Amino acid sequence: MVDLAKISLSGIKPTHIPHWGNYFGMIHPAIALAQSCDTYYFIADYHALTSPRSADENRSYTHQTLATLIASGMDPEKTVLWRQSDVPEVLELTWMLSCVTGYGLMERAHSFKDARAKGKDVNFGVVSYPALMAADILLYDSDFVPVGKDQTQHLEMTRDMVGYFNQQYLGSTCHDEDGVWDGRGLKRPIAVVQEDTGVIPGLDGRKMSKSYDNHVPIFGPKKALKKRVMSIVTDSTPLEDPKDPDSCNVFALYKHFATEEEQAALAEKYRGGNFGYGHAKLELFEKSQAYFGPKQERFDALMSDTGGLEEVLQAGAKKARSVAQKVLGRAREAMGLPSRLPFPGA
Ligand code: TRP
Repeated sequence: MVDLAKISLSGIKPTHIPHWGNYFGMIHPAIALAQSCDTYYFIADYHALTSPRSADENRSYTHQTLATLIASGMDPEKTVLWRQSDVPEVLELTWMLSCVTGYGLMERAHSFKDARAKGKDVNFGVVSYPALMAADILLYDSDFVPVGKDQTQHLEMTRDMVGYFNQQYLGSTCHDEDGVWDGRGLKRPIAVVQEDTGVIPGLDGRKMSKSYDNHVPIFGPKKALKKRVMSIVTDSTPLEDPKDPDSCNVFALYKHFATEEEQAALAEKYRGGNFGYGHAKLELFEKSQAYFGPKQERFDALMSDTGGLEEVLQAGAKKARSVAQKVLGRAREAMGLPSRLPFPGA
């Protein structure tokens, strides 16, 4: 087979102002992959609908998320960047995948089980979430999917769905023992989880997440960001006593911003005593400002021109859609549905 460039794809839900956990878990690795792959990244606004939000919030978070990606270094000229709902073909593939996937598998998804366990009012979107996510990935023949650790089950489910689809309609996995795809049916993707940055701790030590309200936004007024950093939970070791960097949240976060030498220097201060957690938090805050400060200006400029952001989204959707239609056509054909190209209205 021709050795085409590998495709790396990922999605980010526009449900909040992106935070450090999103940055180190997904945005940063995704930008790094853009060096070696054809990159496809989208704003998962259909997925965001599984939790209630106003129309204004839906619109605004989409723009803030896009501006964050671009300000963080994603180049719309090199990366196909689009809004999920601008390529509605994904919903058709979701349906196809739903029909080859057992209800039992869907029920075992952590996202669904967690919502249930918390006694939440689960809408059906939460149940079918993994099929939509699989469709996102499979619609672009993705090779690699950079995700946070919490998404690995969804990736496993995606790989399972490829198997169900290919077996049912082509009577084969369509992949050899090494995982090399033969070009028929759907292509099986690989999750790229950065082990050391897989889980970013939040202010309280649990995984950083908007839903735990333990996050630090990437961009925002300096004062507010500082307040968040200063509220990181630590133990009550007295100021004078030596402290253990490896069991401290502040240190765990600092690691993401600092070089090895800087980390070693801070660890030294922890162990030496007479160095309080407040001092460590200030060092973390300064480091994070040095890292994100210049990006903040770019973010503000992008947010002041939402027309420009829309242009980026439309240009990206056009490119994404042309790939999506080809793959969907192949899936339709495999299933015995008419595969007319181009699709009406495209
Ligand atoms: N479910 C992912 C999250 O919550 C977002 C997402 C949606 C995604 N579709 C995707 C990630 C496709 C990777 C690939 O973070």
